[in-house]
Amino acid sequence: LYFTLSLFFLFSPSFFIPTFLRVQFELWDSDDPVPRQELLKKVRGCDGLLCVLTEKIDAEVLDAAGPNLKVLSTMSVGFDHLSLDELKKRGIRIGYTPEVLTDAVAELTVALLLATSRRLIEATHEAKTGGWGTWRTLWLCGHELADSTVGILGLGRIGVAIAERLKPFKVKKFIYTDVEPRPELAEMIQAEYVSMDELARRSDFLAACCALTPETQGICNKKLFSKMKSTSIFINTSRGGVVNQEDLYEALSTGRIAGAGLDVTVPEPLPTNHPLFTLKNCVILPHIASASYTTRNAMSALAANNLLAGLRGEPMPKELPL
Ligand code: GLV
Ligand code: GLV
Repeated sequence: LYFTLSLFFLFSPSFFIPTFLRVQFELWDSDDPVPRQELLKKVRGCDGLLCVLTEKIDAEVLDAAGPNLKVLSTMSVGFDHLSLDELKKRGIRIGYTPEVLTDAVAELTVALLLATSRRLIEATHEAKTGGWGTWRTLWLCGHELADSTVGILGLGRIGVAIAERLKPFKVKKFIYTDVEPRPELAEMIQAEYVSMDELARRSDFLAACCALTPETQGICNKKLFSKMKSTSIFINTSRGGVVNQEDLYEALSTGRIAGAGLDVTVPEPLPTNHPLFTLKNCVILPHIASASYTTRNAMSALAANNLLAGLRGEPMPKELPL
């Protein structure tokens, strides 16, 4: 049954379970987000709801579901699309999908970092469109990882996994900041705990790896960028909301920092006429960090298992502590 559900889910972002003795579910059988009205209609009377991160799960959805709803399972590690207060108030348990996506996200973060620092997107464009006149000494030069200092904003499993992958590139030093030191994680990568200020000043590469919460909203702003080196690269594979995009645009367009690689933006999708798209030193990806076949399968299986465990009143494999 689990297998069937997870397979179904791969092609269907959300389904609904009205009873849990005999599981019946309603599924949105498309890779596109379920229209809001459809969700509001179909969620009525459900005991459980499995969603993806394009669905805002707020008072409106929870009211539409009614008092039966006991379990919410999101197929994501991020939870900024969930109104936690509203869920807590109603006593709804929440499952999410940490850990299974760590490898895929770390891998993509490294790919994005290298694409940005070594200007791969610009370079392939030049090669294809006639810009490759000859080999030139300083043409398309970027910044290398060897001997660099890498800063991690928000050290969790993903930050550690990124550092482990970057180490073979001969990074000299890992530094991190967080609300408090994380000695166990830091020890795994010999990372030094520093202030936000020092992180900005010392990092050659600065990667945002934190959850989006009221505390991290917009923390990558003018204040941060103004302290960074003009040769430094900023990478974000967490959530677009941690960045003030106007400040980032200014920092990139004035050469305040050397480049930025973003897998996440506000809004998503970022409109194609957005100023950030005009910048050669900004690489933008459409939120694909966890998008490997292995990982999306593991996420869907975990999300289904979280949901079923929650409906049975058992501990979920991965429950978000409220
Ligand atoms: C992806 O962004 C996730 O939160 O899983
Ligand atoms: C580069 O291709 C070199 O030969 O230095």
